[in-house]
Amino acid sequence: MYFNKEYETMPVKKMRELQRERLRWSVSHAYNNNPFYHKKFDAAGFHPDQIKSLDDMRRIPFLTKQDMRDNYPYGLFAVPLDKVVRVHASSGTTGNATVVGYTRNDVEVFAEVVARCLAAYGATDKDVIQVAYGYGLFTGGLGLHYGAEKLGALTVPVSGGNTERQLMIMKDFGTTLIACTPSYALNIADYIEKKRPDYDIRATKLRAGAFGAEPWSENMRKEIEARLGIDAFDIYGLSEIIGPGVSCECSAKSGLHVHEDHFYVEIIDPETGDILPDGEKGEIVYTTLTKEAFPGIRYRSRDITRLFREPCACGRSLVKMEKVTGRSDDMLIIRGVNVFPSQIEQVLMEVEGTEPHYQIILDRKASLDDVEVMVEVSEKLFSDEVKVLDDLRGRISDRFRSVLGITAKITLVEPMTIARSEGKAVRVVDKRKI
Ligand code: DLL
Repeated sequence: MYFNKEYETMPVKKMRELQRERLRWSVSHAYNNNPFYHKKFDAAGFHPDQIKSLDDMRRIPFLTKQDMRDNYPYGLFAVPLDKVVRVHASSGTTGNATVVGYTRNDVEVFAEVVARCLAAYGATDKDVIQVAYGYGLFTGGLGLHYGAEKLGALTVPVSGGNTERQLMIMKDFGTTLIACTPSYALNIADYIEKKRPDYDIRATKLRAGAFGAEPWSENMRKEIEARLGIDAFDIYGLSEIIGPGVSCECSAKSGLHVHEDHFYVEIIDPETGDILPDGEKGEIVYTTLTKEAFPGIRYRSRDITRLFREPCACGRSLVKMEKVTGRSDDMLIIRGVNVFPSQIEQVLMEVEGTEPHYQIILDRKASLDDVEVMVEVSEKLFSDEVKVLDDLRGRISDRFRSVLGITAKITLVEPMTIARSEGKAVRVVDKRKI
């Protein structure tokens, strides 16, 4: 099923023409209305008039997450603030965050691309869609919410967590499709199995799920589908570009269609920055074609995937990207929250009494990500009373929650407990299997 058949099935040649036109607009808009882009393009010897064909893209310098941080919070906006009607942010809640803005039209585009995804999963205005992504600065909750409303579905804004309540609502409200992270879907399955026979997934109307915000494998899909008795679909996106809805699976479940009329995609070699041909694996780079408030021009996502363009059984002509399973940087995704080890280090450094030696141990418990942070504390502190250590643990854990948005178990250890490596320190031990 389509939400916008014209664009979803547009002949490739026509789509290319549309992209070229929109690209010229988007690049000029960024150049003319944002001083950062203006300077950056000038420094690279690039002018928007040089764009004659899509091939000329390669002349444009890349935009990185660091550029976004350097321009925190509004430095990459290309419209006056009175035209911005919403902001979202990712990765931390302080100066490290990347802030994105939306005009009224951007909010419309956001809702449209998410509505397309839901329609691709077979959803219509007859569906009851339970949004169990977090509402807030994270794009998941509000993104799915407005997409579901745009489709005309009955939208249930539960937000994340509280599995018992999720299940009660699912049953009482007649939920047919749930939107949450794939790991949370497995956590729901665990909960139901534990509470049997009081809970029975067959007593609900659930038949599909829109899962994303973190990598998940084909095995996870099989497990979710078998344990919840539903169709599990992938939804992908990143706040820097719009949020969820950049691409989505369809009934074929073999790759995610990119909404190419709004986002132009390239695959590059993450080492050299060279553009790679379709079919080759590399880092996916995005250029927004219609975004007004914050144009993303050649944004290096760090997500690793490949593109393929063979005809799809669903009839969509939109290019497909392979499921994203890796990144070319060290960003961790913990329960859908993006965190860099360097941010963890910064949080620890700000808490007095901790040594700069730490290790993050990531595991899956009851299908959800579990975070343990081992921190070495000074000899003197370690010999202090229990209360002092408890207090320190509490302070670190509060900072984790307030700055990074994650709940972590903090284990304080004596100096020299964490193994020293000869090369790069092993900061992260990831025992999760996707
Ligand atoms: O995670 C947007 C989103 C919300 C997507 C809800 C899907 C559903 P950010 O917080 O900015 O935005 O994180 C973006 O998460 O660059 C990927 O590394 C990862 N990611 C998002 N969706 C997927 C997915 C949202 N389906 C970063 N598969 C991206 C694999 C994903 N990784």
